[in-house]
Amino acid sequence: AVFSVILAGGVGTRLWPLSRTQYPKQFLQVQGHSLFQETYLRALRLSDPDHIFIVTNEIHQFLVRDQVAELGFSITDERLLRETEGRNTLPAIAWSVREIQKESPDATVVVFPSDHKLDEKAIDEIRAAIELGEENLVTFGIRPATPHTGYGYIAPGEKIGPGFRVKQFKEKPDQKTAETYVSNGYLWNSGMFLFSARVFQDELKQYQPEIFEAFVSPDLVYQDLPSISIDYGLLEYSSRVVTVPLSAHWTDLGTFAAWYDVSPKDEHENVGSYQGMGSSGNFISTGDRVTALIGIKDTIVVDTDDALLVCRRDMAEQVGDLVKGLKKQG
Ligand code: GDD
Ligand code: MG
Repeated sequence: AVFSVILAGGVGTRLWPLSRTQYPKQFLQVQGHSLFQETYLRALRLSDPDHIFIVTNEIHQFLVRDQVAELGFSITDERLLRETEGRNTLPAIAWSVREIQKESPDATVVVFPSDHKLDEKAIDEIRAAIELGEENLVTFGIRPATPHTGYGYIAPGEKIGPGFRVKQFKEKPDQKTAETYVSNGYLWNSGMFLFSARVFQDELKQYQPEIFEAFVSPDLVYQDLPSISIDYGLLEYSSRVVTVPLSAHWTDLGTFAAWYDVSPKDEHENVGSYQGMGSSGNFISTGDRVTALIGIKDTIVVDTDDALLVCRRDMAEQVGDLVKGLKKQG
């Protein structure tokens, strides 16, 4: 059996004010299902409901339960892992792998982040990589569109099965480095992973012994674990990383600009509802409020009960920096 792990603990600050600590972006239902629900349905294509584990913050457990129920399924307490405090993706994955191994020590595990859109045919490409995962940490590569600095970059090497050995994995390079990588044929890391539980534990023990030991110890205090992602913590070090390039369409919906790109547009290239004159290229999400735009171009307008965002569409990446500033001020 293939086990699936859904990571649903991130906060998504670049989608403020829609995405909030209380209501992070993976749970937003802007057009139909939330990204979390789409991810659950994706996992169901590889694993039956009994083999799906979800890791989230304890304050979001009811959102998770409700959204799974809305799809006609349910999740047991043993399969909903609740963090008292997020410690990034490596501890979250290590925890799920431990729980999975209680049932199946040598299980195949697929890790799904819950923050992007993905074409259905990716599932077949993931399934075809299962054998490769028996001895390797499999990443799934995306052909880069721009030298985006928010992603992991993968240098594919020698061919192996349906993929390539990885010569180098570099998480979030600076702009200059990202430009060099794009011209040298590097791939983006999609954020999904496939491996056997045994291989994952070998690599964890070797490169992050503190996290490995913590999960073996009887008195684990989750919030005392180091906070580190699997990308920085394992993939940059391990020599057992391989990559399978995906041909399926993948979009990270980290910013409103990315949401604009994937959303249906009206004849003025606007997304959302508004009354307008001479306005085009805008993303508008203002709930029930009547919104009038006159001569507004390429702008993001997002309104909620207690916060309003007005932002140039080509600067959407910076919303996260602003929100970090807001938090510091309380
Ligand atoms: N349970 C839990 N706990 N989930 C978490 C935590 C945590 O502490 N932190 C993040 N997540 C979830 C997020 O909700 C998201 O679904 C996923 O794990 C990835 O975390 P992000 O914080 O969004 O990572 P990133 O976007 O900076 O980078 C990752 O994804 C990129 C592609 O979107 C990396 O894997 C990059 O290499 C990759 O290119
Ligand atoms: Mg992300």
